Amino acid sequence: MGILRLSHVDIKAPDLDLAAAYYTQVMGLEITERSEDRLFFKCWDEEDHHSLAVRYDPRLGIDRFSFKVEKEDDLDELERRVENYGFAVHRISRGEEVGQGESIRFETPSGHEMELVHEVEKLGSKWGKYNPRLDEGALLGIAPPRMDHLLVNAEEVGEATKFYMEVLGFRLTEQLLGSNGHPIGVWLERSHSPHDLAVVNGPNGALHHFAFWLDNWDHVRKAADILAYNAIAIDVGPTRHGITRGNTIYFFDPMGTRNEVFTGGYRPDPDFPTITWTEDNFGRGLFYYENEVNERFIKVHT
Ligand SMILES: [Fe+2]
Repeated sequence: MGILRLSHVDIKAPDLDLAAAYYTQVMGLEITERSEDRLFFKCWDEEDHHSLAVRYDPRLGIDRFSFKVEKEDDLDELERRVENYGFAVHRISRGEEVGQGESIRFETPSGHEMELVHEVEKLGSKWGKYNPRLDEGALLGIAPPRMDHLLVNAEEVGEATKFYMEVLGFRLTEQLLGSNGHPIGVWLERSHSPHDLAVVNGPNGALHHFAFWLDNWDHVRKAADILAYNAIAIDVGPTRHGITRGNTIYFFDPMGTRNEVFTGGYRPDPDFPTITWTEDNFGRGLFYYENEVNERFIKVHT
């Protein structure tokens, strides 16, 4: 019951033609639908209509992030819990949003619009479900199999964490605590991965990055080659996080939104004891090999 996994991230971009070119040819996603001012993308191993939506806007930023719930009834239950917490919930009826059925939307304490949805149109993954034959050589660009997680900013990380955990049922895998004992960052999961959603101190409503899954380190290395060949601005990596233990590269799409490719980590069950990092180990937690707090990485967001 409850939240299953990340469904999609909806961002803004000032150039839809450039977004289409980059997300298909460099990132290797498929365009599943387009309208006058929006593009919808999915990864090759995803079944659902989209995991990324890009809307034309002169300014960068995030419109909303959407998580998928396991059962239709979960929407009613979570709507009640969000309202009891004191946040207004807006119902989106079937047909109002592209590729999905009824959903609920609300603002979170971190100033983000969050959506919960149950029914999403199934388009199917690339190789089908009947005697599938894999041909990964036919894939273009980085070609991640799926979207993995996102990291948003919050002025009050503790307050945001309380909401995501107590109201929405996220579990805390890791936390970075300041010297005063208050959280600077938290890593939260619903899908037995190190994180589906992370929240780090910064301006409310901001997006730090969203990340695509890759299957192994060799794919991360190949992704770095593709990024370099296409002159994409690499932010950090390839390297490894202390927090989540994942292998990673951060880079900016040509419009300026930070992307990540991510692999590795561990598989936390719901009884996973939280890992705590202290502020004096921030550098190691962030980038395990470099052991440094990279100012650009901390300060730049959209
Ligand atoms: Fe990440």
